[in-house]
Amino acid sequence: GAVDPVALREIAEQVALEAGRLILQERPRDLGVAETKTSATDVVTVMDQRSQDLLLTRLGELRPDDGFHGEERGGRTGTSGISWVVDPIDGTVNYLYDIPAYAVSVAAVVGDPTTPGAWRPVAGAVVNPMTQECFTAALGGGARRVVGAGPGRTLQVGDSPLRMSLCGTGFGYDADRRRRQGAVVAEVLPQVRDIRRLGSAALDLCRVADGSLDVYYERGLNPWDMAAGWLVATEAGGEVTDLHGGHPDATMTIAGGPGNHADLRALLARLVDRIGPENDH
Ligand code: IPD
Repeated sequence: GAVDPVALREIAEQVALEAGRLILQERPRDLGVAETKTSATDVVTVMDQRSQDLLLTRLGELRPDDGFHGEERGGRTGTSGISWVVDPIDGTVNYLYDIPAYAVSVAAVVGDPTTPGAWRPVAGAVVNPMTQECFTAALGGGARRVVGAGPGRTLQVGDSPLRMSLCGTGFGYDADRRRRQGAVVAEVLPQVRDIRRLGSAALDLCRVADGSLDVYYERGLNPWDMAAGWLVATEAGGEVTDLHGGHPDATMTIAGGPGNHADLRALLARLVDRIGPENDH
């Protein structure tokens, strides 16, 4: 049937808010003093899986013919042409440390989310349960930020020059990749106002949309990290691409306003040529 982005956005928002309440209310109090690093990480993994299971169940009730693709194990292939791409806790390290910058990210996409470049978001919601912020977008319908029961507001990206831009970024978990990412950051830092590493790719993309970051880039993102935030940023008038202006993917995700995005993209393209092959992230 025809895709109705606004109806999908409402569903994304509803289920992301419910999962956000779950991870906030049931976050184990003693995470910070967990016996070992591994035991703390395990507790987070359990909450990740519980949040994803909730999303899988709810979306299965509301949209039984859609596919489902999440960060944790378990998913399904649908028949409707629409799939839900979810990150049950984006910003797991912030979650572990109780830093109020983690989120549930839920996106409805068309195409195949398991094939790079073969899918596109049509609706999405990113919920930060600690701050009660909810960022939503529907394709062609704009992006909004709502806090709690407040009225919400429409988002519009800024476009300050790159040298005046606050630049978000993030790092993967692999040691070699981190070394390379550190080398790139060292070159970006003198070219921008400052760098932030806030710890949730989904929220970073939403921050570009609401102007609390000017630009953002990261290598190595998965579809669930970026699907909803990508749409929030583009519906706010932003650009989100890879290094070549195409579909953002694991090689690179770059977000910003029309001008500073182009400048950051050109800068990163030069650096990546110098620092390492594009696919070796
Ligand atoms: C991570 C966060 C982080 C980014 C990493 C992601 P997770 O997601 O979005 O900001 O730098 O690349 O893997 O593991 O917390 O869901």
